[in-house]
Amino acid sequence: MKKVLVTGGAGFIGSHLCERLLKEEYFVINLDNFNNYYDPKIKWRNIQEALKSQNYALYAGDIRDNKILDQINEEQGKIDIVCHLAAMAGVRNSLKDPVEYVSVDIGGTVNMLEFARRNGVEKFVFASSSSVYGKNSKVPFSEDDPLEGQVSPYATAKRAGELYCQTYSEIYNIPIVALRFFTVYGPRQRPEMAIHLFTRLVMEGKPIPVFGDGSTARDYTYIDDIIEGVYRATLYDKTRFEIFNLGNSKTVKLSEMIAIIEQVTGKKAIIDRKPMQLGDVEITYANIAKGNSLLSYRPGSGIHQGVSEFFEWFEKNLGMEV
Ligand SMILES: NC(=O)c1ccc[n+]([C@@H]2O[C@H](COP(=O)([O-])OP(=O)(O)OC[C@H]3O[C@@H](n4cnc5c(N)ncnc54)[C@H](O)[C@@H]3O)[C@@H](O)[C@H]2O)c1
Repeated sequence: MKKVLVTGGAGFIGSHLCERLLKEEYFVINLDNFNNYYDPKIKWRNIQEALKSQNYALYAGDIRDNKILDQINEEQGKIDIVCHLAAMAGVRNSLKDPVEYVSVDIGGTVNMLEFARRNGVEKFVFASSSSVYGKNSKVPFSEDDPLEGQVSPYATAKRAGELYCQTYSEIYNIPIVALRFFTVYGPRQRPEMAIHLFTRLVMEGKPIPVFGDGSTARDYTYIDDIIEGVYRATLYDKTRFEIFNLGNSKTVKLSEMIAIIEQVTGKKAIIDRKPMQLGDVEITYANIAKGNSLLSYRPGSGIHQGVSEFFEWFEKNLGMEV
């Protein structure tokens, strides 16, 4: 049985990934420090299904701490695959605490690459972000587009992570795939992300903060499509280093997204309009031809259905409580 180390496996995307890898009959090791960027109770809830499996081991610790990484090696033996998802993930928060983003998203990533080198892993998958496209104006964004500059410390840290991945792949021959996720949503979405935040506020009858005139657009990608892409990336073996967009390749305007939330919840949103914020970009839009041809990545979820699935989870799990 192959062993996969998932970092950030208690988070939104990581917890879904662990469940999928368990289904694929991997032994899954989750390293997560349950930080309080959002309520750690949510993260504990995320992993309840996985904890029932005999093929799942949980380590509550930090990706920058070599003591816990050594302990994982001692107790679990050689690791075959690393899926590195742990990060400080919020764009806006990175403007408040840029130094922490350097420490976790760059320093932590290099530490995990060192771990991969020591273990001679067969694959390292890195969670990057559509935010690396920053100021790019040509849409849809393609992996080989020149990057015209990132507009948040988070995006810069993710770009640095990609560059370290490329360097480690080059000098140590490690097979690495970096995946640029485009705004992921669905059950367990982080509470500060727009769909989750807006749904909660709408349900509470409170105003929702809308930055700009509602015309900004995002390529929202449903969690199941992302997980399928990550799983396929773990199997990819045609080249030593690749970057892939994982998006839906359809854009939805902020105003449209709010209308969908109104339909799904059956409640009217109260809009609190605010100016565009530092770090925000006008549009994200993925060209997914490369993933389509090399990973057979074919996202299939529509936004209306996806928001409905999110809302079903929201009502069942969180209601108004968080
Ligand atoms: N959600 C999105 O739309 C999106 C888009 C692009 C990229 N990404 C990337 O995907 C990954 C997962 O994002 P998510 O939305 O699931 O976020 P998340 O915050 O829910 O998950 C990240 C997890 O990493 C853990 N973590 C943070 N710092 C750690 C550290 N130093 N040591 C160990 N664990 C640590 C957190 O406790 C958390 O459980 C991140 O790398 C993020 O940057 C997410």
